[in-house]
Amino acid sequence: MAIRKILEKGDPTLEKHCRPVTNFNERLHTLLDDMKETMVKGNGVGLAAPQVGVLRRAVVVLETNVEDEGEEFIIELINPEIIEQSGEQTGPEGCLSVPGEYGIVTRPDFVKVRAQNRNGDTFEYTGEGLTARCFCHEIDHLEGVLFTQRAERMLTPEELRGE
Ligand code: NI
Repeated sequence: MAIRKILEKGDPTLEKHCRPVTNFNERLHTLLDDMKETMVKGNGVGLAAPQVGVLRRAVVVLETNVEDEGEEFIIELINPEIIEQSGEQTGPEGCLSVPGEYGIVTRPDFVKVRAQNRNGDTFEYTGEGLTARCFCHEIDHLEGVLFTQRAERMLTPEELRGE
């Protein structure tokens, strides 16, 4: 595994539409492993392939809604689609490609996705709260959309310092 370089806002790669993953091979597995390691190193809760310069529809998301003292785990979503959503949450959101900036973004509170795993098998997964927010944020990346385009406003330096 390896840490990959995260592209930052202003890089045109982050504004591009990503193509579906069609080969569920070793190269994809290495990409996913590297994305997970890169996300964890950056203290992120999600990462999309275009953020590491790969214009393919693959994302990783940290699932933090674990009950009964379960451990957090990372979900891999290949060719994800949102098939159901409900509720609404409004709160601060950031991105490893937009370091140090946060904005207020409204997202659904529940999101059901249909995706493939690293072997190409289709599954469905329902995310809630932060996980739902991450699913939307990461799937936006696959369309070249950053949260800064969705934010109703960005947090001020005072707010970032907690004043
Ligand atoms: Ni992001």
